[in-house]
Amino acid sequence: MTRTQRVPLDRMWYGGDYNPEQWPREVWDEDIRLMQRAAVTVATVAVFSWAKLEPEDGCFEFGWLDEVFERLHAAGIRVDLATATASPPSWLVRAHPEMLPVTASGTRLEFGSRQHYHPNSAVYRRHALRLVRALAERYGSHPALEAWHINNELACHVTHDYSPESAAAFRAWLRDRHGDIETLNASWGTAFWSQEYSDFDQIEPPRDTPSFKNPGQQLDFDRFMSDAWRECLRAEAELLRELTPDVPITTNFMGFFKGGDYWSWADELDFISDDEYPDPADPIAPAYAAMTRDLMRSLSGGAPWILMEQAPSAVNWRPRNAAKAAGWHRLLSLQSIARGADGIMQFQWRQSRIGAEKFHSGMLPHAGEDTRVFRETVSLGAELAGLRALVGTRCPAARVAILFDWTSWWALEQESTPASLSYLHIVFRWYHELWRRGVLVEFAKPGQALNDYDVVIAAGAVALSAEARTELARVVTRGGQLVVGYQTAVLDDSLGVLLGGYLGELQSVLGVHVEEFMPPAEPSLSGGAVPSLEISGLGAGAASEWGEVVRVHDAEVLASFVGGDLAGCPAITRRTDAAGGAGWYVATAPSALGEIASAVLEAAGIEHTLLPDQVEVVERGDHRFILNHSNVPVTVGEIEVAPRDVLIDSVLRVAV
Ligand code: GAL
Repeated sequence: MTRTQRVPLDRMWYGGDYNPEQWPREVWDEDIRLMQRAAVTVATVAVFSWAKLEPEDGCFEFGWLDEVFERLHAAGIRVDLATATASPPSWLVRAHPEMLPVTASGTRLEFGSRQHYHPNSAVYRRHALRLVRALAERYGSHPALEAWHINNELACHVTHDYSPESAAAFRAWLRDRHGDIETLNASWGTAFWSQEYSDFDQIEPPRDTPSFKNPGQQLDFDRFMSDAWRECLRAEAELLRELTPDVPITTNFMGFFKGGDYWSWADELDFISDDEYPDPADPIAPAYAAMTRDLMRSLSGGAPWILMEQAPSAVNWRPRNAAKAAGWHRLLSLQSIARGADGIMQFQWRQSRIGAEKFHSGMLPHAGEDTRVFRETVSLGAELAGLRALVGTRCPAARVAILFDWTSWWALEQESTPASLSYLHIVFRWYHELWRRGVLVEFAKPGQALNDYDVVIAAGAVALSAEARTELARVVTRGGQLVVGYQTAVLDDSLGVLLGGYLGELQSVLGVHVEEFMPPAEPSLSGGAVPSLEISGLGAGAASEWGEVVRVHDAEVLASFVGGDLAGCPAITRRTDAAGGAGWYVATAPSALGEIASAVLEAAGIEHTLLPDQVEVVERGDHRFILNHSNVPVTVGEIEVAPRDVLIDSVLRVAV
């Protein structure tokens, strides 16, 4: 069949991982019948099928997959074809145990679960590409082929590998980055603790050490491993582009995943897709999930993306796995659509009977068709079919950006820092306040032009290059509102301190510098009493996590610390620029952070309303979604929304 027979899918993606090879043939007919009943449009196939596709070195068996393709095609279902490279077969691992990953303490991780390889293995890469080529040659022009799904959740279980092969690749990467050993020594600050190297060959990955590891070495290793995984992605993508130039390529991201700098990985893809497993037992989950959807939309530059995996109900990998109560799955699915997704996929179509994931829910549960979960599977399919008018539409451009920086994430959470802080918590606190006010957010990458935003927030972005700092400073001088939270621009992107009060180029637009960090002690260190911080002024009340001595040279003090060692010190400042912009500095985590967010939004002329608890309002295309994640009815404006329900503008309902 020729490629010209492919017709673009004009509906939402709806379906899930489909693993028929794990089931006897008689189940396959039922699968197709029930998929049709559920209005499934796309099935992700072959994710963990390497051993079935290539049972012996170089011997491919495609018969079963041909049949799967034909059955799905006959039923009008498209295939998101995985390249099956996420779990190498045992014959390959046994022949080449050097491809197995090694931990920082030297333990080799064995065959017997999945992802038992490391990304720097030449043998792995060679065999993976041979498989990808074979798949592309076999199915590249099949009319059911909708997209390539490279690997699966790259780096999910093995983010860092310390094998000899990775060590050698790390040295080559370092040579490339630093050029000569003197530059590396300067960048890593090896004059400290007698760590100088006289040759690249002396360098190892940051394995377990007696005391704190060199911060520069660790950061470069984080960068190197992210790049190594991206190289696996790129190698497959390049081959697929050569062999099947018309078939779009994706790989499933994992939301805010520390192991991979998704800003750089995203460049390898034709469209972004994401796996997200919000915990039904966690009240913060809807807001956090919204944040991940906004990251995906930002990674795809505003273009639609696909929710590639979510659980129809419970997962199997938490200590206790809460089921999704009725309505929750639909709600989170429509949240993704509202925030720019063109498809809703799940892990997995049919719940497994055997194996490590048998207690993970599926669209078709163990108990069969006559179940709540399957009824919800069917009704969600029908609802998404009715939303086809949304396909290809976008959310409005956000006026607020939050800086998101993997380098800072890695740096902030290293050992031997002023306090152990979570980068995601710091970012989420700001995001959450904007979410509660119905304000759409995009995430921005350090150094990117920020001209399109009226408000830019950089918090916990501890290690920024001069270019990134300058770009942030420009927000103020061109009339925007820049909010800088504590532990931002303390270091440059080689982890050298910005001397003279930190903040670098930001000092002049903020009108402050920081003299000393004074994070409050942890409750355990203070004999059980929770040390409290308090501020007066804007956002008055309790504060937590961080305090510091801020020295003001050219800014108003909007709030100050009350009591304790920081009594009277500025906690929140603002410097208004001649151009009308302002640089806000926030030196703690106030409980009333929302008040500060509101003040910033007002200064930028951005409309916002504090929504009822657990309620979300989002626009996409010409439509507005009101999502009620709570268990009680709510009223938004004049509109009543039932518990765990979603209302979409009537305009859309007419179009259905
Ligand atoms: C994902 C993975 C799937 C499945 C799922 C279970 O990490 O891609 O294969 O294991 O988790 O929640």
